[in-house]
Amino acid sequence: MSKPKVFATHSLFDAARKILNESCEMEYWAKPERPPREEVLRRVKDKEGLVCLLTEKVNEEFLKAAPKLRIAANVAVGFDNIDVAACTKRGVAATNTPGVLDETTADFAWTLMMAVARRLGEAEALAGSGKWKHWDLDQLVGTDVWGKTLGIVGFGRIGRAMARRASGFQMKVIYTDAVRAPEAVEKELKAEFREMNALLAEGDFISLHVPLLPETRGLFNAPKFHRMKPTAFLINTSRGPVVDEAALVAALESGKIAGAGLDVYENEPFIHPGLKRANVVLAPHVASASLETRTKMACIAAENVVALFAGKRPPNILNPEVLKAS
Ligand code: GLV
Repeated sequence: MSKPKVFATHSLFDAARKILNESCEMEYWAKPERPPREEVLRRVKDKEGLVCLLTEKVNEEFLKAAPKLRIAANVAVGFDNIDVAACTKRGVAATNTPGVLDETTADFAWTLMMAVARRLGEAEALAGSGKWKHWDLDQLVGTDVWGKTLGIVGFGRIGRAMARRASGFQMKVIYTDAVRAPEAVEKELKAEFREMNALLAEGDFISLHVPLLPETRGLFNAPKFHRMKPTAFLINTSRGPVVDEAALVAALESGKIAGAGLDVYENEPFIHPGLKRANVVLAPHVASASLETRTKMACIAAENVVALFAGKRPPNILNPEVLKAS
């Protein structure tokens, strides 16, 4: 029996390639730059499977160009790049990679939090500049992280991993979410629920961990920044469009908030020039980028593809109704 043809928009890691190569006829995009859209649309014409990164929009246009497609496996937990409803309409299974990147992403949100509070970017620049002349009492004084209040917006797996790390820093943890966590979880993580406005008024560090949905797009806007303490910092490792970037720049410029640690942006890879300032630490969407975690993410995507073609339920299917229909 012929193997299903699958296109991967990245060369992936060896472990994931091994899983895919065994049961699929694979075509990998091997160049370091992202494939041009026309090239992707051309290559998926005859493909039954797709392994893609979050930079690929799997929308109507894409699905039209891939009439044989049966699965689109995203190598990311966030799947706002995939029009799941359009996939469902065409009987295409869509999958993501939840569960394996929670701790790594929380580690990085903490990295940003520590870096912006303790002015690591400025400190590294000075240390490397040859201009550091002497130790000084008030040189690069930052803000303590320990003992402060951490406000978590979105208390899912990553938000909770964030909270778990706070106890070592003797922080008070408050969170907000559309759904309140079970009492046992609140107790275990010593996290107290707050309505959004109360969280904004109380948090010293506000860390975002919500998916990008119509209701979270632009969630952090001017009125939200207005409610934050002028000494507070915003940390975003979720999705860029959750924050109104122009409003964030205005809040930073006017001193409405003290700073920000950002991994994600409204129009990646474009970064608003107003964010390039001393009190903002910037990273290029790398929160889950440890070799261990990225390898697991690629393997999970591969396993989802292999499962579908073996007639099994892909473990991370987002639209299981397509299975019932077939
Ligand atoms: C990364 O941003 C992901 O969604 O996995």
